[in-house]
Parts: sequence; C-alpha cells; structure tokens
Amino acid sequence: MMQGARKIMKVYVTRRIPQEGMKALTEAGVCKVSVWDSDEPVPRAELLKGVAGAHGLLCLLSDRIDTEVLDAAGPNLKVISTLSVGFDHLAINEIKKRGIRVGYTPDVLTDATAELTVALLLATARRLPEGVQEVKSGGWSSWKPLWLCGYGLSGSTVGVIGLGRIGLAIARRLKPFGVKKLLYSGRAAKPQASEVDGEYAPLDTLLSESDFVVVSCSLTPDTQGLCDKAFFSKMKSTAVFVNTSRGGVVNQEDLYEALSSGQIAAAGLDVTTPEPLPTDHPLLTLKNCVVLPHIGSATYSTRGIMAELSANNLLAGLSGAAMPSELAL
Ligand code: NDP
Ligand code: DGY
Repeated sequence: MMQGARKIMKVYVTRRIPQEGMKALTEAGVCKVSVWDSDEPVPRAELLKGVAGAHGLLCLLSDRIDTEVLDAAGPNLKVISTLSVGFDHLAINEIKKRGIRVGYTPDVLTDATAELTVALLLATARRLPEGVQEVKSGGWSSWKPLWLCGYGLSGSTVGVIGLGRIGLAIARRLKPFGVKKLLYSGRAAKPQASEVDGEYAPLDTLLSESDFVVVSCSLTPDTQGLCDKAFFSKMKSTAVFVNTSRGGVVNQEDLYEALSSGQIAAAGLDVTTPEPLPTDHPLLTLKNCVVLPHIGSATYSTRGIMAELSANNLLAGLSGAAMPSELAL
C-alpha cells in the first residue's frame, strides 16, 4: 500500500435503511458499503455470503447474529451496529469473546415507544379495534349503556415490569391520566422512580394489585417466558396486560388460556413470537387481544434518527473511536 493511502473497509448492511443512515455511511468515504437492497429481511444464505470479509455489519433486530454469521464474516469483523435498542438477537458472549464492539440505539426511540405503549394500552382497555369493527360491519345499532365498555386509567393502579428508559417514559405519560398508584418490578429499586412516585414491589404484589400490567423489560434468560400461567393467575380478572418489550417474555399459549377463560380482561401486544404472527394464530381469534406489528418506534423521525445513529456507531467502531452509543459488553 502507498504510504498515507487509507484502507477502505467493507461494510454490510442487512436491509434498506432510512436515507439518513445511508447518507452518513457513504459521505464518510471510509468504507465500501453493500446493502441487501430490499424492505424484506435478507435470506440467511445471502446474509452469510454478504457478510464475508466485512469489517462492519449494520443489522436489524430480525437478523439473528450468531456464531455461524460471525464465522462467515471472519476475522476482519470489528463492529456490529444494530438498528435497535434491543440486542437479544445478538450472540453477545460470542461477540465479546471475539473482541467485536457493538453499537445500538438507546434513548432516541424512547419517546416514540412510550407513546405507542400508551396508545396500545388505551386501545386495548377501551376496546377501540372492536368499536371500529362494529361501526364498519353495521353492528352499531344504538347507544347502549353497557355496550363496548372497558377499563379506565383514572384512579387505577399501574404495574410496570422493567422501569428502564422506556418503562419510566411510559410511567411519566400514564400518571397524568389520574393513575393512583404506580408499582414497578425489576432487579433493583431505581432512584429515578421517585419522579413518578413509583413504588418498588415484588412481582407477585405488582400482579395482584395492578389494574394494568405493562411489560417494558429487556428479553434476557431471566425474563424469557416470565409471563406464564402462574403469572396470569396472579392478575385481577379485570386487569389489562400490555407488552411492548419482546414476544419471548410471554408464554403465548398461557396468555391465550388466560384471555379466553376470563382469567384476565384483555391484552395488547406490539411484539409476538414469531414475528410476523401467523394469521391463523389462536390469539388473533380473540376480541380481547389487540396485536400490533412491532411498531413501537415507528415514527418517521425516530427511524431516521435511529438509522443515523447506527451509521455513526458503525463508523466510530471502524475507526476505533468512541461510539455515540456503545453497548457495554
Ligand atoms: P433499558 O435497558 O433501559 O430497560 C430495560 C429494563 O428491563 C431495565 O429497567 C431492567 O432492569 C429491566 N429488567 C431486566 N431484567 C429484568 C427482570 N428480570 N425483571 C424485570 N425487569 C428486568 O432498555 P429500554 O427501556 O431502552 O428498552 C427496553 C426493551 O424494550 C428493549 O430491550 C426492547 O426489547 C424493547 N423495545 C421494544 C420496542 C418496540 O418497538 N416494541 C422499541 C424499543 C425497545 P434493571 O435495570 O434492574 O436491569
Ligand atoms: C428496538 O429498538 O429494540 C425495537 O424493538 C425496535 O425499535
């Protein structure tokens, strides 16, 4: 190589991403970028081929980055940047072992996700999808005293499982609806809970006292399948369950049973297992289950900012500089 010539590094991007991200990558002029140029996920075989020899990988939460992908990439790979705050799709131990750095997108999507969680909670508790359907199908015959009644937040107890960045932002938004008591559970009490008068409570207490149970924790071996038969059996029969974290936190067979037997009143899910949820899935037959297609962070501006941040994380990782948002491994 000529003295002073810069080495152009190879970057693989697993999906078409918002232009803010592509612009940052291309304008940096330090890497050759190949993109799986589609709105649909890259097929596994293409991912394994595309990542070969890459120094940087920009991936999405739908890409499973495991030993096979890391082996396919080979020893050049020094940074993985995910266009998400969740990182349960990354084989963190293996990545750490190989000395690969990881960038992610905390904070920038907190407001959008908290807002969507509140929207989903209200839509579920006040039965909005059912109401819209009745209007369209001619089921709206008259104003009736008990028709399409649901549950309100005023005077209620809300339980947040995982009072992290998003959990706290949800609590902040729910309090002004007149929530009387806000409980939260997690691995330890959080000083920042005082901002929302949050009371740290054992999970069992949270479940038995809450009118609304909101799950906003990360998916870890500890939270995998946390919401199961025993969990739902501790909830009130009038309680509403909302999950905007990851589908893996919920045992969906047990949730179906709890919803169809009247063990709990209703559920709103932005995340499922698998994604997409098959259209013939039993949960979709239930009127008291509202399922959204993982759109927590889906505002135009949030997705643009996430794309730019993930590009900047990648570029910083490639040059050995501090990343704007690096995951501590
Ligand atoms: P944070 O890391 O700030 O919060 C995660 C929280 O989970 C922490 O408070 C953590 O508590 C808690 N937690 C970990 N283990 C447990 C446990 N065993 N029981 C209860 N709580 C636990 O992350 P964010 O708030 O930024 O994001 C949270 C998750 O939301 C992401 O990991 C992602 O999966 C999901 N998400 C979903 C979106 C969507 O589109 N639906 C959008 C964005 C994020 P502690 O601090 O004590 O460890
Ligand atoms: C995340 O970032 O983890 C969400 O699930 C999508 O924004």
